[in-house]
Amino acid sequence: MTVDIRPLVPADVDAVVELWREAGLIRAWNDPREDIRRARAVWPDLLLVAEHDGAVVGSVMAGYDGHRGWLYYLASARAGVGRALVAEAERRLIALGCPKVMLMVRPDNAGVLGYYDLLGYEREGVLVAGKRLIPDTPPPPRENPRRR
Ligand SMILES: CC(C)(COP(=O)(O)OP(=O)(O)OC[C@H]1O[C@@H](n2cnc3c(N)ncnc32)[C@H](O)[C@@H]1OP(=O)(O)O)[C@@H](O)C(=O)NCCC(=O)NCCS
Repeated sequence: MTVDIRPLVPADVDAVVELWREAGLIRAWNDPREDIRRARAVWPDLLLVAEHDGAVVGSVMAGYDGHRGWLYYLASARAGVGRALVAEAERRLIALGCPKVMLMVRPDNAGVLGYYDLLGYEREGVLVAGKRLIPDTPPPPRENPRRR
């Protein structure tokens, strides 16, 4: 199997969004196209796709915040691709001097932790908290806007 792992380019976006949809990675509050746009604006070389026979068969979004590296949106439609994507993301993070890589798993996807065990990822005793700063979807219009 020849799989090319390379940074995402704009022509990949539709296929990557479809891959994420099929992999169950899309949440209503995250616009995947905005996620791609923002990631490419910061780390264009860390948002990777796997291509086989001209088709996108995998993706991973990595990032480095100066303290930890992070992996998001790992998806594979072909055996072997997930592992290859993680290895390439790790290689690129190491090249940036990133000392440790982390990832988050949603509770409804906890079964995938066994996969990360295989890849050498240890369970961490941390709870994660988040706060939305920029909503992806505009709020609905006010019902009774005050006239000036
Ligand atoms: C998880 C995922 C990326 C794995 O990709 P893949 O290319 O199929 O996996 P790889 O070929 O790299 O690795 C396959 C190995 O992992 C093992 N494996 C796969 N899922 C596993 C799991 N949930 N628990 C334990 N082992 C698992 C396979 O048995 C196989 O083992 P082997 O090499 O000894 O035969 C893919 O199934 C996927 O896209 N899942 C949906 C999206 C998702 O949940 N992403 C993670 C978000 S945190």
